[in-house]
Amino acid sequence: MAKNIVLTGIKPTGDPHLGNYLGAIAPAVELSQSPDRDSYFFIADYHALTSIHSAKDFAHYSYQVAATWLASGLDPEKCVFYRQSDVPEIFELSWILSCFTQKGLMNRAHAYKARVAENEQKKEDPDHGIDMGLYCYPVLMAADILAFDTDIVPVGADQVQHVEMTRDIANRFNHRFGQVLKLPEYQLKEDVGVIEGLDGRKMSKSYQNTIPVFCPQKRLKKLINKIKTDSTPPEEPKSTEGSTLYNLYKIFATAEQTENYARQFQEGISWGEAKAQLFEVVNARLAEPREKYDEMMANPEVIDVVLKEGARRAREKAQVVLARVHKAIGKGGV
Ligand code: TRP
Repeated sequence: MAKNIVLTGIKPTGDPHLGNYLGAIAPAVELSQSPDRDSYFFIADYHALTSIHSAKDFAHYSYQVAATWLASGLDPEKCVFYRQSDVPEIFELSWILSCFTQKGLMNRAHAYKARVAENEQKKEDPDHGIDMGLYCYPVLMAADILAFDTDIVPVGADQVQHVEMTRDIANRFNHRFGQVLKLPEYQLKEDVGVIEGLDGRKMSKSYQNTIPVFCPQKRLKKLINKIKTDSTPPEEPKSTEGSTLYNLYKIFATAEQTENYARQFQEGISWGEAKAQLFEVVNARLAEPREKYDEMMANPEVIDVVLKEGARRAREKAQVVLARVHKAIGKGGV
């Protein structure tokens, strides 16, 4: 029996942080190890191009994301791991799909609507600062998904609409040409809860409160020392409730360690000591993959080799799907 195809993309818009690691990378790596599915993971670099306009950042973020995934245990033999921009079939399909996509559908995309609303609030022209890349983002995402006959797309809640639009677009195409494109389903990623950043708010690049996954050990220590705490004096009992230190600790520690940590809070651990212990558990988990990460980042040609091989396999599959599309639309004769 054909295996289920699971596909997901990650947009390289910055140095991956602990929130990305816990929420997306670790679960995806686990998923890819399941033997009864074919997994496709890719770096959605041309989606990132809608916001990253520095050549240096654009190049660097893709390598960082690739190295982070590989160092975190993604086995490129067990899945197809590639860079979107290395698969030209996706962009050809994107154009074809755009000819079957209603402009009105794109008008309803959350990300686009938010930008229009922002402009209106600032009394700007509604189109201010909106380029076609942002506007057509969902069509490219539909191509990413449909080019591989994807069954399941694991996504966060913010991406559900894009998968629904993918179905709309595929339906419209199929309505005209028959069952050519496979309709995907989304699968909501398990909610790992909010991963708090340095200031206690959700860890996010836009709040500048992130801890990069594989920053040097010294920097990790420094950042953990910056995590916000309240002003309870050193000797006094401290509450674990609402404590960013405690919330992060329990994600990285065993149940036993966490219990012990909570007890020390009650007994009046100093914030300095609490931070030192948090650093220990986080570092214990990241030290080994960090070495692999550093090695790859020092030799990006190793990453290129992996991604090129992934692209070769991805293209093989996408060409099969595209051949069906060509036939359907009459390219190359009927
Ligand atoms: N838009 C997704 C995000 O911002 C990334 C992405 C691009 C994607 N293409 C995809 C995710 C295809 C799943 C499937 O996170």
